Amino acid sequence: MKFLTAIIFLSSLTAIFPQQHYLITNITNRNKISLDGKWRIIIDPYEVGYYDYRYKPRKDGYFLNKHPKDKNDLVEYNFDKSETLEVPGDWNTQKKELFLYEGTIWYKKSFNYKIKTGVRTFIYFGAANYDAIVYINGKKLGEHVGGFTPFNFEVTKYLKNGNNFIVVKVDDKRLKDGVPTLDTDWWNYGGLTRDVYLVEEPETFIQDYFIQLKKGSLNEISGWVKLNGIIKRKEIDIHIHAAGIDKKFETNENGIAEIKFSGKFKLWSPDNPYLYNVKIISGTDTVNDQIGFRSIETKGNEILLNKKPIFLRGISMHEEAPFRSGRAFSSADDRTLLTWAKELGCNYVRLAHYPYNEHMIREAEKMGMLLWSEIPVYWTIQWENPNTLENALNQLTENITRDKNRAPVIIWSMGNETPRSDARLKFLKSLIESARILDPTRLISAATETHYDRNKIIIDDPLGKYLDVIGVNEYIGWYNGKPEDAIKKEWVSEYNKPLIISELGAAALYGYHGDKNTRWTEEYQANVYKYQIEMLKKISFLRGVSPWILMDFRSPRRPLPYFQDFYNRKGLISNRGEKKEAFYILRDFYNKLKSN
Ligand code: GCU
Repeated sequence: MKFLTAIIFLSSLTAIFPQQHYLITNITNRNKISLDGKWRIIIDPYEVGYYDYRYKPRKDGYFLNKHPKDKNDLVEYNFDKSETLEVPGDWNTQKKELFLYEGTIWYKKSFNYKIKTGVRTFIYFGAANYDAIVYINGKKLGEHVGGFTPFNFEVTKYLKNGNNFIVVKVDDKRLKDGVPTLDTDWWNYGGLTRDVYLVEEPETFIQDYFIQLKKGSLNEISGWVKLNGIIKRKEIDIHIHAAGIDKKFETNENGIAEIKFSGKFKLWSPDNPYLYNVKIISGTDTVNDQIGFRSIETKGNEILLNKKPIFLRGISMHEEAPFRSGRAFSSADDRTLLTWAKELGCNYVRLAHYPYNEHMIREAEKMGMLLWSEIPVYWTIQWENPNTLENALNQLTENITRDKNRAPVIIWSMGNETPRSDARLKFLKSLIESARILDPTRLISAATETHYDRNKIIIDDPLGKYLDVIGVNEYIGWYNGKPEDAIKKEWVSEYNKPLIISELGAAALYGYHGDKNTRWTEEYQANVYKYQIEMLKKISFLRGVSPWILMDFRSPRRPLPYFQDFYNRKGLISNRGEKKEAFYILRDFYNKLKSN
């Protein structure tokens, strides 16, 4: 009954999170109209379009998209005479004056629509950073908080034949009680950063489903299908022709069908990223998806992919666009980043520190790249603030809901470098409990806190008890000690669990050369990697590593002229795609591992 528990849990979330309008999954294969392209904008640092001079929410805000009725009518804004921004895209890299802007920008998109009988319509956002309030034809649809996960609202009853307009107030101000909170080592790219669609569905449609191998099984599928609509009790057909599977199930009074069947499957893996066409039919609705089946589990300190031990040859990433910088959002961006990781010899990528666009997951699925997916519970958030917990739980739910059928995702990470405390442990434990209900098939991890006792590195973070895989970040040779100190280190763990060193590394400015003791040179970075690799070879329970980081990325914490210029330079590749010396050192190590 576990899955049904998850569904009831999910359905109860709608009550807990007023903003949670149950997510339509598999947007890739849905019947949709793109609203991408130029959107009119109004930059509104004082939120004049939302609050009156008494700082009370206005009834006649910019969401009405008003135009003067006559020459006497006073209207102090006009979207159609205002400038535009491209969607998807962050605003910071589209306009010089918005590079450092944090605040509110209003987006408006007009579109023609023809109402169709028996068709329900939803507006779907891949993401909006950070707090988005959405209106259609002047009516408020709802609000979404969290910059990296999708959300949708039903617009059927508000649509008109002919001209319609969507207005979105996007505010990316950093907040103390936010997730993430005020301080991060990445650029706060604001705006409608991912695709926007109108999605058309029949009156009762297949809203969501979970079709994956049962934990620890190579041939038993266990999952569910959830309908949205008035007719709850319906027949569900599942067809996986390539596996000779044609099954029928029945939904219950909540429109949920529990599904169980077994089959002989070509298992998905980085070497053989085989995807099955899966067809789900219910009444008038048919959903197609491309799903890979693989099992992932741990046994002692082993990570088993399809029952075989695997070492995760990885790299960490930020969702930063290669060459042009700014938030990456397209399949092309993502293919470039994943291709570099493949060139490095990787079979695994840590998607730091927040959920990425769905294109990235789908490209990894096709290219055969295992993924660590994380929510931005980063550094010191407000552990005792119930709103902060609700926010983090919502981002976790949306992340898992969107990607639970994606084979490459093997690890859900609950956070990064969060300081030990009882409040923090309580907070993270409730995230872990929810993740295990939402998806009992994947591994749970986090980048935990170790402590050093002279040459001993001790893994004893109390959080480790609740994780399947322990993540640890260390910067021996950059933030602490000398590069050569690494080989003196002895790693000790209180847990008989696999260790992933989720970050290690050093910075270098591409093309800056000198002796190996001079910081910022490629030689210094390379030297750090040489000693790190010697240390890694000695850690008996190490089962993966994702050095920091694939490509230099923008960070407001890095102002050092010439060497940084608001870039974190720990990339193995520069932001212009130039490979540094350390790239080849790690590549050679991985190629050796591969040939073992
Ligand atoms: C931290 C952190 C990263 C950061 C990196 C660095 O460990 O997790 O987000 O960018 O170190 O300092 O470069």
